[in-house]
Amino acid sequence: MKKPTTYLDKKFHYPVRDFPFAQLFVDRLNSVAPPSKHISELEKLHTKYEREEIAGLYQTLYAFVAEPEFQTLYREFIREYVFGVVGTTGSFQGRPGIRIHPPNGKTVQFHCDEWYGHGPDVINFWMPLTRAFSTNTLFAVPLERSIVEVEQLERQKVRIEEINGVLESAAHAIEGEPGMLFCFNSKTVHGSKTNTTDITRVSLDFRILPEGASPGTRPTSYFICAESNSLEKVNLKGKRAVVYIDSRFGLSRFFSPEQQRDLILKYSDQKGLVVTIDEIEIQTMSHHPLLHQCVEGKLENVVLMFSSCALPTDREERKILLEKTRKSGVLIAFAREQKIFPLEISESEIEAARKEVF
Ligand SMILES: [Fe+2]
Repeated sequence: MKKPTTYLDKKFHYPVRDFPFAQLFVDRLNSVAPPSKHISELEKLHTKYEREEIAGLYQTLYAFVAEPEFQTLYREFIREYVFGVVGTTGSFQGRPGIRIHPPNGKTVQFHCDEWYGHGPDVINFWMPLTRAFSTNTLFAVPLERSIVEVEQLERQKVRIEEINGVLESAAHAIEGEPGMLFCFNSKTVHGSKTNTTDITRVSLDFRILPEGASPGTRPTSYFICAESNSLEKVNLKGKRAVVYIDSRFGLSRFFSPEQQRDLILKYSDQKGLVVTIDEIEIQTMSHHPLLHQCVEGKLENVVLMFSSCALPTDREERKILLEKTRKSGVLIAFAREQKIFPLEISESEIEAARKEVF
């Protein structure tokens, strides 16, 4: 069995004054609510909002975490703080998950994230924005025990309706408060119970994909490249683009030029690009003369390709091509990944994705 990544099952402290996520949430909720519904702390949410209103709170907060005001702080938090404490860099979940766990409510069944497609090296973070204790908090099973328990479930062919109970009995409550950050991995079993306390727990969760690690079955678009500074999706509307097609090597062998073109044009429509040139590589030459011309910016400044896995199979040639792209300022938009190099996907992410496919 591959040994899971260690440095997990850990707790860190961060300065709330510098990263006041809970206060930002309170301010945002109050700004869209009548004065009668204003709250001073997130843990009092249930005193102003009925259970049926929680969906509306999620809507407000999920919209907020996509906005530059939150994103600027969140990205700084990840880059300046989180990467530092876990001693890694890589990409991170663009928008954190939000959990609101009111009295008598329940959030998630016991599970480990690996079951739902997160790669084995993905690092999970859980961050309470309120006091979290007793039954309002997240419950987790220590990593080594998680592995043993999950193996047993499989060996004993435990029915799905019994899984939650088995895992719940092995889990312990994580005690936390704002300023604490907990870290575990995709094999760590976790879940929640019915909240019998009289306070609401609100927490954030997010994931980091260390450089070169596999994202599992999650689309790479789930993660944001650490070097990316763009807060909005890259806007390519109205930009002129060249379609580049080759179906001789790598993954592209399995997709005919027509299939590649269909996907590319669909993506280019979504992005509002204007395709001015539609070219196929010189089929009798293996050194990709047309692709080199494209990334040097000789045709248009945006090159549309089927997939990063359709880049040359030779590592050295790929390196040279990506280097040229960075120098010329050309953007390569990959239709399958829906990512643009170098803004939304880095060279190391391209290499990691290839390892997955080949
Ligand atoms: Fe989870």
